[in-house]
Amino acid sequence: MDKIALIGGTGLYKLDFIDNVEKLKIETHYGETEVRKATVQDREIYFMARHGIDHRLPPHLINYRSNIAALKVLEVEMALSTAAVGSLCEEMPPGTLVVIDQFMDLTKSRDITYYDGTDLPVVHTDFTEPYCPELRQLLIDECQRNGGEFRKQGTYVTTEGPRFETPAEIKALSFLGGELVGMTNVPEVILSREAGICYATLALVTNFAAGISPHFLTHEEVLQVMKEQSRRVNDIFHSCILNFPRETNCRCREAGKYFKIDGKVTNDN
Ligand code: HPA
Repeated sequence: MDKIALIGGTGLYKLDFIDNVEKLKIETHYGETEVRKATVQDREIYFMARHGIDHRLPPHLINYRSNIAALKVLEVEMALSTAAVGSLCEEMPPGTLVVIDQFMDLTKSRDITYYDGTDLPVVHTDFTEPYCPELRQLLIDECQRNGGEFRKQGTYVTTEGPRFETPAEIKALSFLGGELVGMTNVPEVILSREAGICYATLALVTNFAAGISPHFLTHEEVLQVMKEQSRRVNDIFHSCILNFPRETNCRCREAGKYFKIDGKVTNDN
């Protein structure tokens, strides 16, 4: 059976089309992760709330290595994620969905690799095409089918958080080619590729970034826009699940050939 992960970011703590969930706890070499399992048609879906169901984990304290290693233990081969983002571009106002295609890493304190030469060897993974091209195309097709404002490309800059950026930082990031700013895509995208999981992100613009927005930024504003758009994101993810490619011809899996799967799953209902 196909096994697919959906990783919910800020404001997406459950999916409307999934009921009868089974709570699983996965102990990995890197820590413990909770996942909810459900079946949609003939597909096994694993839902993970990145910040925890009650948003108790700030971006820099999420155990990304455990989360992605847990998906490997569950034999997941494909993952879609959501991300709330601030926009640096007029043509991507709040409410716009973006199928991001590039990232930049401005994080500071995170474990950003499995291949640090301790448990696993030193490996230099190619990131010319950072997100799975086939999953990106699926997201683009389903966004198109769904209607509403969306963009097929965007460069996401990951900042350390949990604070928002200063206007000076946003000006500098814009000068460097950044178009969207968020706090979680790195290292999730990196670890997914290192583990050989096909991964793509649907970003939702919740605000204009600091200094571009006409007002001060708040987490409440981010949550409010996520709430307004959550029906749309749910519908797009649902149709992605129904149309997931049975097989892919991308290079993502090949990148995970050095990853070692190690962990234990227990039922936590
Ligand atoms: N900056 C960083 N992360 C974010 C923002 C932002 O403006 N909006 C939503 N997540």
